[in-house]
Amino acid sequence: QRVGLMAAGLVLAACGKQEPPAPAPVASAPEAASAPAPTPAKVYVVGTDAAYAPFESQNDKAEIVGFTIDVVSAVAQKAGFEVKFVNTPWEGIFNSLQQGDRDLLSSSITITEERKQTMDFSAPYFDAVQLIAVKADSKVARFDDLKKLKVGVQTGTTGDEVVTKLLGKTSSNVKRFESTPLALKELEAGGVDAVVADNGVVIHYVANNPDAKFKTVSDSSFAPEQYGIAVKKGNTELLDKINKGLADIKADGTYDRIYAKYFGAAPSAAAPAS
Ligand code: ARG
Repeated sequence: QRVGLMAAGLVLAACGKQEPPAPAPVASAPEAASAPAPTPAKVYVVGTDAAYAPFESQNDKAEIVGFTIDVVSAVAQKAGFEVKFVNTPWEGIFNSLQQGDRDLLSSSITITEERKQTMDFSAPYFDAVQLIAVKADSKVARFDDLKKLKVGVQTGTTGDEVVTKLLGKTSSNVKRFESTPLALKELEAGGVDAVVADNGVVIHYVANNPDAKFKTVSDSSFAPEQYGIAVKKGNTELLDKINKGLADIKADGTYDRIYAKYFGAAPSAAAPAS
């Protein structure tokens, strides 16, 4: 009986301790009040699919980092606005812009005619091209060799587009994945014969996963692509700021420094100027 009473007392004590949750909203007030913000800059929410190293990915501390993050942060700093990066699955990313959940998207997004119908893009800030990843002992030598093979892509990417075109819309050999790393993992596991994705991400993955024993195969039939930052159609106010910031960081050497940090050389040395 005693034990029962004591237990009851403990339960009551525990209940009493659980009361505090209510004041929680109040607790955030002092934080905001203590923040020294003379002219609070507008904070724009940036959607990015952070499974795309070295462009956008999450580090050990779950912080979103990468080339894109450095570029957009530098652009924002120049243009006088603040940004908050929010990890956003690729498959819902364009919709999140449409719905107003994100103010801009920076996710290694290739500027395409089709996408331009539904959103506005900044000036291009990075050149890319599709690249094939296969096992080191694969006989694949060109894109055409993938016609009868199982090919992994990230759903709804430009890689998906080119592979779907080659294999056919109804082909069950196009294996679509939520993220590019998942497609590459499947290649390692032998579930697909090849993966087609943006060169920068494929090169980074191959270099950092030597145990996967991959090689890359390029093909001159792949069209050149350019990444742009997307805003909601008609949001010229934000787009102008972004383009101004981009031009400024290109002019003052900031862009080249960021580029060299991730890709080891100035863009002009690595790719023909566009
Ligand atoms: N550049 C390609 C495209 O626009 C792939 C981009 C995927 N980006 C990402 N963060 N998953 O379709």
